[in-house]
Amino acid sequence: MDKPYAPSCDNNRGPILAVLQQYFTAPATVLELGSGTGQHAAWLPAHLPHLTWQPSELADNLPGIRAWLNDAALPNVAAPIPLDMAAPWPALDFDHLFSVNTFHILAADEVARAIATGGARLPAGGLFVVYGPFNYDGDFTSDSNARFDGWLRARNPASGLRDQGWVVEQMQTAGLTLIADHAMPANNRTLVFRKA
Ligand SMILES: C[S@@+](CC[C@H](N)C(=O)[O-])C[C@H]1O[C@@H](n2cnc3c(N)ncnc32)[C@H](O)[C@@H]1O
Repeated sequence: MDKPYAPSCDNNRGPILAVLQQYFTAPATVLELGSGTGQHAAWLPAHLPHLTWQPSELADNLPGIRAWLNDAALPNVAAPIPLDMAAPWPALDFDHLFSVNTFHILAADEVARAIATGGARLPAGGLFVVYGPFNYDGDFTSDSNARFDGWLRARNPASGLRDQGWVVEQMQTAGLTLIADHAMPANNRTLVFRKA
């Protein structure tokens, strides 16, 4: 099959890797939520060889991820698994969670469920790293983020940029504390949470 392609992955993968290299320093299993095309799973773990990378997505998107992973042939990436972030997760072991550009796609109640499940399933000390555009104190951080939010909501009224403070509250309720909030290119952020 033709591999699905998202230009944003090529643009954001370098800066994301630079952040992950600060936190994912020891051997561990990372569960990626909403792996999308599979481009991140086919590239990031090549530069983090001490990690075991577990991609996951809604079942319909797994063939595209497999196509990227077949070509990349990375020894530290597992076959992608079907996982609906907002539904009960399958039984599996992982040390950290990672998700890129999903919190503004899922409905707010789905994000809350994903955080609750992730918080319950992460081991003590586990990290939940979330990349994407966020609002602060209810405000957009740029005109382009405001336009993007309008485009998202026109496509699906349940989508939309989440407020960083709201995400922090959901994480706290799930037992996770914000340990870093990195500014990223193009008005994105990387939020790093740690389970107590
Ligand atoms: C904007 S894309 C980001 C994909 C990828 N992480 C990236 O950075 O290119 C959002 C992804 O979330 C996935 N998604 C939407 N709802 C989901 C859910 N309930 N559980 C898991 N993934 C979901 C979509 O299939 C889509 O691939």
